[in-house]
Amino acid sequence: MKIIVVEDYNEMSKKAAEILIKKVQEKPNAVLGLATGSTPVGLYKELIEDNQKNGTSYKDIHTVNLDEYIGLPKEDKNSYYTFMRENLFNQLTIPEEHTNIPNGNNQDLLEECDRYEKIIDALGQVDLQILGIGSNGHIGFNEPGSSFTGQTHIIDLKESTRQANARFFESIDEVPKQAITMGIGTIMKSKEILLLASGTAKAEAIRGTIHGEVTEDLPASILQTHPNVTLIVDKEAYSLC
Ligand code: GLP
Repeated sequence: MKIIVVEDYNEMSKKAAEILIKKVQEKPNAVLGLATGSTPVGLYKELIEDNQKNGTSYKDIHTVNLDEYIGLPKEDKNSYYTFMRENLFNQLTIPEEHTNIPNGNNQDLLEECDRYEKIIDALGQVDLQILGIGSNGHIGFNEPGSSFTGQTHIIDLKESTRQANARFFESIDEVPKQAITMGIGTIMKSKEILLLASGTAKAEAIRGTIHGEVTEDLPASILQTHPNVTLIVDKEAYSLC
């Protein structure tokens, strides 16, 4: 596990963008695994700025997102479908058919999980997977207790996760109770993983990720066993290490 400690959120975003842009320059048809939440927003801004300045092309990349809420209409401002369009896809020219996000509105959600896992398989291997981390150590929406070998599946969100994400909604009652998420087994198949964390709210989870026991109680701890993981953490997130 390579650990890069940076000053703050801005530096974290810039460093992550450097790594991602280099990957796309080396492999213009790379498969990128993308994340949502506040953490990668700065990274996405950096990619957009670089694209406008230097013209890095994303026309041949494919993307797979980690997760999606169940039951939110696609057009809802809090769906990850809308999040990705507003924060990245509308500004970078990525062909729509190259972007993939689980469909949390499929009538048959088990079939949707199966369909999504097959899409990831068909793309070969994710070249670079971006991850944020929940304060309880979740990655994607793999909450504590999720199997380390799991594939794309339906997950019941922990109350603490719903509360953490309630800041984006009018009230906690509007936060969905379930999501579809790539499994930890799916995530671990990625060739390279880049986990970003900023702020003291993530410090305990980062301590466990780096120094803790590898346990399903702290999903991100599995990353200790992956051959190519880089953590970019700011001083606050690293403060308990
Ligand atoms: C969300 C997402 C995760 C994200 C995490 C942290 O629930 N499903 O992919 O990494 O929680 O979110 P944030 O970056 O907003 O702190």
